Amino acid sequence: MKILLIGKTGQLGNSLIAINTKFEIVAPERSELDLESNEDCQRAINKHQPDLVINTAAFHNVPQCEKQSVRAFAVNCEAVRNLATLCKQHDIQLITFSSDYVFNGDKNSPYVESDQAEPIQMYGITRLAGELAVLTTAPRHAIVIRTCGLYGASGAVSKGGNFVDNRIADAESSTKMEMGCDQVISPTSASDLANAVFQLIENPEVKPGIYHLVNEGECSWYEFTKAIYELMNIVVELTPVDRKGMSGDMRRPLYTVLKNTKAAAIGITLPHWREALKRYLFSKYEQEINNN
Ligand SMILES: NC(=O)c1ccc[n+]([C@@H]2O[C@H](COP(=O)([O-])OP(=O)(O)OC[C@H]3O[C@@H](n4cnc5c(N)ncnc54)[C@H](OP(=O)(O)O)[C@@H]3O)[C@@H](O)[C@H]2O)c1
Repeated sequence: MKILLIGKTGQLGNSLIAINTKFEIVAPERSELDLESNEDCQRAINKHQPDLVINTAAFHNVPQCEKQSVRAFAVNCEAVRNLATLCKQHDIQLITFSSDYVFNGDKNSPYVESDQAEPIQMYGITRLAGELAVLTTAPRHAIVIRTCGLYGASGAVSKGGNFVDNRIADAESSTKMEMGCDQVISPTSASDLANAVFQLIENPEVKPGIYHLVNEGECSWYEFTKAIYELMNIVVELTPVDRKGMSGDMRRPLYTVLKNTKAAAIGITLPHWREALKRYLFSKYEQEINNN
């Protein structure tokens, strides 16, 4: 199977390439394939003739989406809609990604794939619009995977690195810190997600539609940060703060734990977030852990 990958420098794109052993992956530079350019997408499809397109690109800096809503719609909805149209025309399967932020966060048990999406800020609105656009444009070709709190070896470029690495860097200059305890999430390893994506691709029972793929379990950002420092043997005075989901004028959803029911029903699950975090830290910081 030949895969055309969009977003190879990102956390997930990087992990897909790193763990791939079976597929032929072509991953053009962004200068060659800009998701926002229908011409670029068309040219890449004609040139590479893939069986599957995996799009990991998005405009997902949440505060920036609030300020640049036109651009957020252009990337997260219009561009993926155009990509879905091309995939349908060329009879190519499409996997694209969405976010826990399509939910309002008012539920207090994990969101399943069929739960009502009700985004509460521009970012989530553009992601939901993108999901609808893709699934109505290419209902027999498209899979949308919602995920949450991703961290990967390469770090999210648009967010200035990943959450885990940034907390470790913080501890180099500070021994006292505050961390939000108001948002409860499913932190997810990009490498575990990439592994689940490949399992999904290979499973003949998989049907188009929405899937939730996240590491199992749940925690607040405070609890996640505490686990990072404990596993790293770093001593920090960490204080939980309840911002009630507010960052400036924008509200973030309070509870966006995702429950994987559809992929789990065909045997595809991700490990618990603690196990994933431990594996990530030991693969990247083993020496520091031993020295601390
Ligand atoms: N990170 C999270 O916490 C999180 C949470 C929920 C859902 N998700 C979703 O999961 C998916 C993967 O996330 P990620 O963390 O791997 O993202 P990421 O690290 O920010 O990577 C995004 C990739 O897309 C590329 N890209 C951005 N705009 C593009 C465009 N217009 N044309 C072509 N390439 C473009 C970026 O290239 P450059 O290097 O040139 O910028 C980068 O390679 C995204 O859909 C994201 O929204 C992520």
